[in-house]
Amino acid sequence: MIITIDVPLGGGRSYPVLVGAEAVAGLAAILPKSAKRVAVVTQASIPIDPSTWALGREARTFHIGEGEPHKTLSTIETLCSAWSRWGMSRNDVVVAVGGGLVTDVGGFAAACYHRGIAVIHVPTTLLGMIDAAIGGKTAVNLPEGKNLVGAYWQPTGVVCDTTFLTTLPAAELRSGWGELVKYHFLEPTVQALAGHLLPVDGPAVAPLDDAQPEDVQIARCVALKAAVVAADERESGLRACLNYGHTLAHALEIATGFELRHGEAVAIGLIYAAELGFETGRISAERVAEHRDILGARDLPMRPPPGLDRSELITLMGRDKKALDGITFVLDGPHGIETVTGVAGLAMEAALSRM
Ligand SMILES: NC(=O)c1ccc[n+]([C@@H]2O[C@H](COP(=O)([O-])OP(=O)(O)OC[C@H]3O[C@@H](n4cnc5c(N)ncnc54)[C@H](O)[C@@H]3O)[C@@H](O)[C@H]2O)c1
Repeated sequence: MIITIDVPLGGGRSYPVLVGAEAVAGLAAILPKSAKRVAVVTQASIPIDPSTWALGREARTFHIGEGEPHKTLSTIETLCSAWSRWGMSRNDVVVAVGGGLVTDVGGFAAACYHRGIAVIHVPTTLLGMIDAAIGGKTAVNLPEGKNLVGAYWQPTGVVCDTTFLTTLPAAELRSGWGELVKYHFLEPTVQALAGHLLPVDGPAVAPLDDAQPEDVQIARCVALKAAVVAADERESGLRACLNYGHTLAHALEIATGFELRHGEAVAIGLIYAAELGFETGRISAERVAEHRDILGARDLPMRPPPGLDRSELITLMGRDKKALDGITFVLDGPHGIETVTGVAGLAMEAALSRM
């Protein structure tokens, strides 16, 4: 069964996200009719061969490097130059096949080339399927920081073929679970604030309902993110709730030189956000314990790696680009998950100690 979720974009526009085993069979049908060429952006180590897909157009594969050091403007320039030499026009299409790194780079290159050409994301990691490929945020890193240059560039469609997850290394799959657990805590907030927008096909299930097949759980997360993005395409308000657990996560990624995977950092960040919620009197000890139980059951890390300097983490959290007014966090509380400004340094330190 292929589940289709339409992500509304405003102005009556939307794009489909196909989720399920062999969903890639639906890719050709969502390629723009105007496209004569398909530029597939992927990585050499991803064991998926797009040349076997019946795309019905001239297709070429462009490999990019692995790891955050390759998520750069220089990679964007290399891709755009290669497309130009091939004769890609503004009517052609990019298909980004990979994890969040590939969809971020492929999406941003598509946003820039000829001032913007169509892109379809084919995420091949769990994190990509439930998060990075949905919502239209694309970016590359600068030496000064992560994701500092980018664009909002909505895809023409997204194809989450769950058979691709069978080759994903266990650590990458676990990283995706870090984000999936975030959706578990976010769901009631999204239901309350944007529930009427939830365009989910099939049963409305909890993201962490293990009785459900994997593709239904993935589709549920896609639908939750779609609802938030639809309500707040440019991150002016509600969308910030997607950053639950991310303030410490970003600081940890920087402090460890990206040795921690994104979803692992988010898992630790979720525990920190819970402890901070407790320190600021917003949630109970039982709610903190719930965070620990759920993340622990999935074998996710729950405290910062040893040897990190606490004051450096606090400084980095203050510099997080999502900080709006003093130190801003996204915290759980009586009204659900929301942005909280002006969190005191003492509470931040106390929460770190509790980890
Ligand atoms: N745009 C957004 O909204 C958004 C949201 C979250 C994260 N991100 C970005 O996503 C990136 C992290 O994404 P990620 O966790 O998917 O990591 P990744 O893209 O770096 O992929 C992790 C590793 O898995 C390999 N891989 C991918 N698919 C595979 C498969 N099916 N089989 C075997 N190996 C496979 C890759 O080659 C890579 O080595 C970060 O750069 C982060 O900033 C973006």
